[in-house]
Amino acid sequence: MPDTPQQPDTTPPEFGSVDEVADRFAAHGYITDRRLATTVFLLSRLGKPVLLEGPAGVGKTELAKTLAAVTGRRLLRLQCYEGQDESRALYDWDYGKQLLYTQMLRDKIGDLTADAPDLATAVGRIEAQDSVFFSERFLAPRPVLEAVRGERPAVLLVDEVDRADEALEAMLLECLAEYQVSVPEIGTFTAKIPPYVVLTSNNTRDLSAALKRRCLHLFLDYPDADRELEILRAKRTGLPEAAERHLVQVVRGLRALRLRKNPSISETVDWARTLAVLGVEELDPQVLAQTVNVVLKYERDLNQALDVLPRLVDPNRALPEPGHGHGHEHSHRHGHSHGHGHSHGHEHGHSRNRRASRP
Ligand SMILES: Nc1ncnc2c1ncn2[C@@H]1O[C@H](COP(=O)(O)OP(=O)(O)O)[C@@H](O)[C@H]1O
Ligand SMILES: [Mg+2]
Repeated sequence: MPDTPQQPDTTPPEFGSVDEVADRFAAHGYITDRRLATTVFLLSRLGKPVLLEGPAGVGKTELAKTLAAVTGRRLLRLQCYEGQDESRALYDWDYGKQLLYTQMLRDKIGDLTADAPDLATAVGRIEAQDSVFFSERFLAPRPVLEAVRGERPAVLLVDEVDRADEALEAMLLECLAEYQVSVPEIGTFTAKIPPYVVLTSNNTRDLSAALKRRCLHLFLDYPDADRELEILRAKRTGLPEAAERHLVQVVRGLRALRLRKNPSISETVDWARTLAVLGVEELDPQVLAQTVNVVLKYERDLNQALDVLPRLVDPNRALPEPGHGHGHEHSHRHGHSHGHGHSHGHEHGHSRNRRASRP
């Protein structure tokens, strides 16, 4: 096993404690919980990459960005995608620059080959100059090499690694194991100060056991109600706190519905901002029904949500509804479902009607 390139004696720890992580992240508007703050603390102390798995919109990418902001490190982001090849991830040669130089140096190159007796000799002489053109000067670093080579300490974000092919994953793993990248023509670059590495995955495929073994692993789920409220507060959505608290409950109710796509944290934030702009101070089923498309993007999800919104907004009203509905509400509902309707025929009567029948 080669030595790890870390130098714990010369590199001061960036975080003094788990609490300090939480505080500094909060100061940058990112609300952690204990597990998350601990993982970041360990990442900074153990020099291991961290792998964040979880649904979209729970703050995986943002965590890496915030880590860079908090520590003053440079953020280098490798966005993974299907069919991505190594050269995009590690390094590439700057062909344009090579070409430009050879054009401009045409005379010089001409001199080299001018008295060559035959083509093979001429080619041989040019080849002898390879090391000039395949040198660091013509290297186009991509994020991984940059993270290893750069002078300034970096946070390397390998985003949505589950989208990359397994081959690329394996190659990344190799680099991350020792924080080094080999360029055959030049040699091996080893990080002076190991980058903080954050990998994220939306779980579209299983990642290799080797990758999981190598990393600190954290499953990031939707936050609990308190933390989600704290996030909303941190974002200064403009909605009164009581309404924000209420909204968090509604969103949590929506997430329990087994929708095709759950509302993410950022969508909760968007919803709060939307309501604030509309001047809403207290939540009611109507205004939520009118704006729920901010958080739900599939029609089936929307319809399902419209059905349950009144109950989510006011859980106490839920029980009496079917039994005691024989006043106003009942007749209204009847009227609508027989459709002298405001709602179009093809729309699913129930949800619309129930919504429409609210006073
Ligand atoms: N813990 C958090 N604190 C503050 N904002 C958060 C938090 N988690 C998520 N967000 C907000 O949600 C948005 C989406 O998060 P993002 O990191 O893009 O999600 P993911 O990468 O998991 O899909 C962020 O831009 C941020 O505004
Ligand atoms: Mg992301």
